[in-house]
Amino acid sequence: MKTLITYSTKTGNTKKVAEAISKAIINSEIMDIADVQNLDYDLIIVGTWIDKGTADAKALKFINGIKDKNTAFFFTLGAYPDSKHAQDCIDNITKLFTDNGNKVLGHYHCQGAIDPKLIEMMRTKFSPDHPHGPNPERIKRWSDASTHPDQNDLDNAYNYFKNFIERF
Ligand SMILES: Cc1cc2nc3c(=O)[nH]c(=O)nc-3n(C[C@H](O)[C@H](O)[C@H](O)COP(=O)(O)O)c2cc1C
Repeated sequence: MKTLITYSTKTGNTKKVAEAISKAIINSEIMDIADVQNLDYDLIIVGTWIDKGTADAKALKFINGIKDKNTAFFFTLGAYPDSKHAQDCIDNITKLFTDNGNKVLGHYHCQGAIDPKLIEMMRTKFSPDHPHGPNPERIKRWSDASTHPDQNDLDNAYNYFKNFIERF
């Protein structure tokens, strides 16, 4: 069986998760989304970082080109993994795949450190009552995200896809 694990990453978080998943799926091919030449795979697993509540632009474009395939996806995000925002991301990304006739067979996500440059911008440009401004709750979330993905997240990704591929 041919399996592709491909990822879009800006600061490396999603790549780390992709690498953990590739260890769980023997003989899988892993590559940056920009390097994918064809979609001739039995299973395509796409990783993305979250931008404005959905897949980032590169992943969006890539997913839009996948049709009638067996797929799974994973993502890293700044929000908490058990938040409504994370669930909305799952729903949004699932729809991107299913709208093109793909089957979504599984998904995984975890928190990922937010680019310090973005945090600095939000701290200095926005007031605390702005939707992205530095209020205590948000400052705590940025700080909590900063250690992710950690070893536990990577182990969870590995275990999820190890189990997934045994059932595939
Ligand atoms: C421009 C920008 C927009 C982002 N938008 C969101 C968002 O809407 N929701 C969220 O939970 N995290 C958001 N994040 C956080 C990233 O999704 C998160 O830090 C992710 O782990 C980055 O992955 P990467 O290291 O693979 O690039 C955003 C980050 C950036 C830089």
